[in-house]
Amino acid sequence: MTNPNRLADHYQRALRADEVLAQIDAHYPAGPTLHQLAPLDQLHIGGVAASSRLLERLNPDAHCKVLDIGAGLGGLMRLGASLGFQMTGLDITHGFSALNKALSSRVTQPDSIPLTWVTGNASALPFADNGFDAVLFQHSLLNMPDAARVIAESRRVLRPGGQLVMHEVVSGPNMAQLRYPVPWASSSEHSHLMTTAELTRLLETAGFRLEHMEDWSKIALEWRQRQRQKEQTPRQAVLSPQWVFGERFINMGKNLVDNLAQGAIKVVEIQASC
Ligand SMILES: C[S@@+](CC[C@H](N)C(=O)[O-])C[C@H]1O[C@@H](n2cnc3c(N)ncnc32)[C@H](O)[C@@H]1O
Repeated sequence: MTNPNRLADHYQRALRADEVLAQIDAHYPAGPTLHQLAPLDQLHIGGVAASSRLLERLNPDAHCKVLDIGAGLGGLMRLGASLGFQMTGLDITHGFSALNKALSSRVTQPDSIPLTWVTGNASALPFADNGFDAVLFQHSLLNMPDAARVIAESRRVLRPGGQLVMHEVVSGPNMAQLRYPVPWASSSEHSHLMTTAELTRLLETAGFRLEHMEDWSKIALEWRQRQRQKEQTPRQAVLSPQWVFGERFINMGKNLVDNLAQGAIKVVEIQASC
């Protein structure tokens, strides 16, 4: 099972929450848009475009109540709320849940549905059975050593016919070449990548029916290469992942490009129903 303190230390060590909020207030006094927050709060490969594609797999009328497992700083949650989903975000890193909430209070989205934030562990979800229409994982299962238990918990909280949608990193054919640090782990301690075959077998064993599977590795690499170019220009961006990871992100960003280019990792989208 995940050691919450050690994982939280990885994510919170360099997090400058007060400075982040001061920076946002100084640059966006009327409140930031979702796109302005994206370099900070979309902590996955593919940014806001990847989150939009993920949510397009769901319909707010049929899948209104959505649980985002490992919600981080909440980019996917706020985007979902703007599209009419009722979003609950669960994260084991309390500093992330707190900043997620503070960021949400600064965004002005008049038609947005209120959000719910919970600090907790995906291995023991603090929710009743059958309470959600959909469960999302976006670059969070990759941190979880007990994926079978997490998937079983997801199944438990989904209603019959509910949907599970993932945008995840999985191991590639050259997994042995994987270079650390990456944003989700400084070393192998917090990185728990499976092959696509292992992941789909796990889903089927837990009673899910696979509906869709797409390899996004090519567009993920192109997107990360574009980000890397921006990160190397001398002009300082208003927000960036460095506000979360500090100087470590320079190597993390470079390693992501190398890991994708060398086939150490792949990025996939998976949808399954129960
Ligand atoms: C790489 S971040 C991705 C955050 C967010 N999903 C995104 O894409 O912007 C992974 C997140 O998963 C959370 N996480 C990892 N293991 C968890 C667990 N067992 N239960 C709940 N959250 C977890 C971490 O705290 C972190 O916020």
